[in-house]
Amino acid sequence: MKDVKSTLLERRSIRRYEREAITDEQMDFICEAIRNTPTSYNGQQYSVIDISDQSMKLKLEELTGQKQIKTCSHFMLFCVDYHKIDILGERKALKNPQFTHTMDGIVVGVVDASLAMMSAIVAADSIGLGSCPIGFIRTKDPEAVCSILGLPQGVFPVCGLAIGVPREMPDMHPKQPLNALIMKGRYANDTELLSELEAYDARVAQYNATRSGSTSDNDWADHILSYYREGMSYHTLVAMARQGFVPER
Ligand SMILES: Cc1cc2nc3c(=O)[nH]c(=O)nc-3n(C[C@H](O)[C@H](O)[C@H](O)COP(=O)(O)O)c2cc1C
Repeated sequence: MKDVKSTLLERRSIRRYEREAITDEQMDFICEAIRNTPTSYNGQQYSVIDISDQSMKLKLEELTGQKQIKTCSHFMLFCVDYHKIDILGERKALKNPQFTHTMDGIVVGVVDASLAMMSAIVAADSIGLGSCPIGFIRTKDPEAVCSILGLPQGVFPVCGLAIGVPREMPDMHPKQPLNALIMKGRYANDTELLSELEAYDARVAQYNATRSGSTSDNDWADHILSYYREGMSYHTLVAMARQGFVPER
């Protein structure tokens, strides 16, 4: 098992995997790590669907265009989940406010599911496995994902995670300088921030032009904004409303 420092500081997303399956023992460790994730109120407002069936992975690959789903050993879908507390509350005739109709209710579940995914990422990496989050599972066709996987009211996909035995070790992405990410005492002023960000933008452009494997002429800002431009066509709120999440205005 890797030490904590190299697990955290050398992690990178892995998109190519060996055919080899992850062992049951490895999966048990990942699942226990997920289970011990801290959650708001200890409410555990999340669930994970563990998918290793190849025909199901193929369906999800088709929906999202993300080939990692097909080639990974296990694809785990992390969902915000209020269904479990809803059915138990009903069984016990408890008063249940519509927390899913509040923005904070949604944030709580999304944070829980995201932290659970991070537990899985770290656990997988520490035992020599590779993983890649798949956000397209939420954005490409969320209604189809909910329907195929039988997600009931109160459950919505937040992010997927492909996990497998690594077949590549790509260069690590340069990240924002610490001063731009972790600000001392108060929020940084724009002049300082811009000079850090411009230097970072140039560093990413240089990395993209020279990295191993496929290169590109992308800088950071335009590349990220192009994802946001694409994101303007997603209908996440509509899909969430179908699953019973109706955030207040
Ligand atoms: C919430 C989330 C969603 C992501 N969705 C995808 C995805 O759909 N497809 C993909 O190839 N990578 C996806 N990624 C991986 C990011 O592209 C990757 O983390 C980022 O480029 C930084 O690289 P690194 O993980 O190697 O540090 C996602 C990452 C996160 C955290």
